Amino acid sequence: MVKTAFIEQEDVEKVARFIAELNRLESSHIGFCGKDSIEIAEYMKEEIPYPKSFVAAQYEGDLLGVVGIDPDFDSGVGEVWGPFVIEEQKGIVDQMWVKLLENKLAGINTFLLFPNKENKLVHEFAIRNGFSKGSEQAILIFDRNDVHRLQDSNLMELTAEYHDEMVALHDQLFPGTYYSGQQIIDRLDERNKVFILVEDEELCGYVYVEAEPEFSDGSIEFVGVHQSKRSKGIGSQLIAGSLKWLFTFETIPSIRLTVSAENKTAVNLYQKAGFRLQHSLNTFKKDRK
Ligand SMILES: CC(C)(COP(=O)(O)OP(=O)(O)OC[C@H]1O[C@@H](n2cnc3c(N)ncnc32)[C@H](O)[C@@H]1OP(=O)(O)O)[C@@H](O)C(=O)NCCC(=O)NCCS
Repeated sequence: MVKTAFIEQEDVEKVARFIAELNRLESSHIGFCGKDSIEIAEYMKEEIPYPKSFVAAQYEGDLLGVVGIDPDFDSGVGEVWGPFVIEEQKGIVDQMWVKLLENKLAGINTFLLFPNKENKLVHEFAIRNGFSKGSEQAILIFDRNDVHRLQDSNLMELTAEYHDEMVALHDQLFPGTYYSGQQIIDRLDERNKVFILVEDEELCGYVYVEAEPEFSDGSIEFVGVHQSKRSKGIGSQLIAGSLKWLFTFETIPSIRLTVSAENKTAVNLYQKAGFRLQHSLNTFKKDRK
């Protein structure tokens, strides 16, 4: 008989392998869950409270399906991992979800789900279970093997002289976002950098990047160009120069970013710079009653 139960600590590696395998296929892919079983297992052990954040369906010790929640108690949001099921067992999806909801996860009021556009099973699951559909997200990736294709750029690292201009431009372009211009300045160090492009001693644009070589990761957080200086290739130079700097960290194999697919300006800008579309995801959201 198929047994649906919360997983035990000793099941983590097996579950991680199952997730990794299914997450490599577009048709069962969920954004932000990872595709490497070792990384998934490590993340699950470190970040996800046990034993009741994951449910598995098993038959005689073989995994048929898994669904889990990665809770963020600060924001009250739980990201749903899955449901992942083997092809022949699509019918167990709702059963696993009902079991998972037995865990009240106090403080988690909202569930988010990021199925690949090709993941029909999870789209149907979301609609059946009262999730509402949000925006489409594009995951873009730039591989370090493509660094030689990046154009030359005349960037310089932000100096104190241009702090005020950079803060003013950032606060004008991104009011109310997660870092204000001053907060960016306060974060600057060996790994968090602002690069700027200056013409006739005037700041035309800036890019803020963060390198996390210990996690083999790096990100372009913000890029902005003065309205009067747009469409002259400055945004492209800022992206190219900041990528070159990020790839000076040898542990970073690629840079990935997520943008709203509706933000055509950003999608075009990044694709023009050499990013390629890795996945298209849909977002679904449900508030817990
Ligand atoms: C996005 C932004 C940085 C682009 O700067 P820019 O200097 O104008 O960019 P470039 O001249 O290098 O243009 C590069 C490519 O981006 C795309 N692009 C730029 N502006 C665009 C627009 N308004 N609509 C669609 N695509 C656009 C184009 O593909 C363009 O290449 P093309 O001119 O050969 O068609 C600038 O418009 C900006 O500061 N916008 C406000 C902040 C923002 O949205 N930042 C991006 C999200 S983090």
